[in-house]
Amino acid sequence: MDPAEWHKSEPWLASALKAGYTHFDTAQMYGTEKYIGNIFKDAGIPREKLFIASELLWNYHSLIEESLETTLKDLGTDYVDLFLIHWPQMVFYEEGNIRPRNPDGTLKLLDTGKVKNIRVSNFSIKTLEELLKTAKVVPAVNQIELHSYLAQAELVEYCKSKGIVVTAYAPTGSSKVLSDPLIVELAAKYKASPAQVVLAWHLARGTTAVPRSTSEAHQKENLSLPTLDSEDVERITALDKGLRVCNNPTENGIICGWSVEGMGCQRWGNGMDAKDLGADQFFALSSSHYIRGSPDANSPH
Ligand SMILES: NC(=O)c1ccc[n+]([C@@H]2O[C@H](COP(=O)([O-])OP(=O)(O)OC[C@H]3O[C@@H](n4cnc5c(N)ncnc54)[C@H](OP(=O)(O)O)[C@@H]3O)[C@@H](O)[C@H]2O)c1
Repeated sequence: MDPAEWHKSEPWLASALKAGYTHFDTAQMYGTEKYIGNIFKDAGIPREKLFIASELLWNYHSLIEESLETTLKDLGTDYVDLFLIHWPQMVFYEEGNIRPRNPDGTLKLLDTGKVKNIRVSNFSIKTLEELLKTAKVVPAVNQIELHSYLAQAELVEYCKSKGIVVTAYAPTGSSKVLSDPLIVELAAKYKASPAQVVLAWHLARGTTAVPRSTSEAHQKENLSLPTLDSEDVERITALDKGLRVCNNPTENGIICGWSVEGMGCQRWGNGMDAKDLGADQFFALSSSHYIRGSPDANSPH
C-alpha cells in the first residue's frame, strides 16, 4: 500500500472489529500500526479481548527493543500477543552494511512482559533447524505463505512435530486459487464462496490463517466457514503446485537477499526446484528502501 494511502485502512479495520475479528496481524513494515491503534482506541474494546501480532523489520534485528517500543506506541498498547521475526534474513540497520546475516535468536523480550509469545515467519525446515540449535524458546508460530497451490505439507508436519502453530499468509491464494475449477466446484457443493472453501481447508488441516479483506461482506463471509469432507480436503491438498503468489524470487533465485537454497525452500516460485535456480547463497541486496524510505514493489510483505 502506498504510504499516502495507509490512513485509508482505518474504515476496513474498523468494520473488521465490528464484524467480530479479535486477531489482528500487523507489521511495522506495513505502516498501518498507528491507524490500527486509532481504531482500537475508538472502539474502546478491553485489551485482553484482542489478540495482536506484530513483526520486527528485517533491518531491525539489532534494534529489537526499539522496534518493539515503536510498535507498542503506535498500537497504543503495553504488550503484543505475538512478536515475530518477519524474515530469517537480517540486514544491519547501519547504512553501508547490507549483507544478510543469520537470525540472532534474541528472545529476551519475553522477560519484559511486553511480548507474550515469539513467533517467526518465512522460516523453512532448514532455517527452523538452524534457529532451534540456539533458541531458548521454541517459536509459538511460524507464519508462511500457504494455500492450495502451495500446500507445504512437509513444513506443516515438521512444525506440528515441534509444537509450532502454522499460520497461513496469502491464505486465499488470490484469484489464481479462487478460480481453480475444483475450488469453484466445491464452493457450489458447500453453498459457499471459493474463499470460504480455501479458508475451511486451512482449518481442516489444523493450520490457522490471516486473510485480509477491505470488504465488509468478505470479512463477514470469512468468519463463517463450511466443514469440508476429508476426501475434499485431500483433493484440495492435491492441487499443490509449489506456486507462490507473494514474495517470489528474482530470476536469479534471490528472495529478499537470500537464495532459495539459503532459505531452505525446495520449491520456491512457479513450482521451480531450488536446485535448478543456481543462485549464490548470499547476495547483497540493496536495502536502502527498507532503511530510509517506504517499502516499494520489490519489498517483501
Ligand atoms: N509474514 C509475511 O511475510 C507476510 C506476507 C504477506 C502477507 N502477510 C499477512 O497475511 C495477510 C493476508 O495476506 P494477503 O493479503 O497477501 O493474502 P489474502 O488474504 O489471501 O488476499 C487478500 C485478497 O483476498 C481478497 N479476499 C479476502 N476474502 C475474500 C473473500 N471472501 N472473497 C473474495 N476475495 C476475498 C481480498 O479482497 P477484498 O479486500 O476485496 O476482500 C484481497 O484482495 C496480510 O494482511 C498480512 O497480515 C504476511
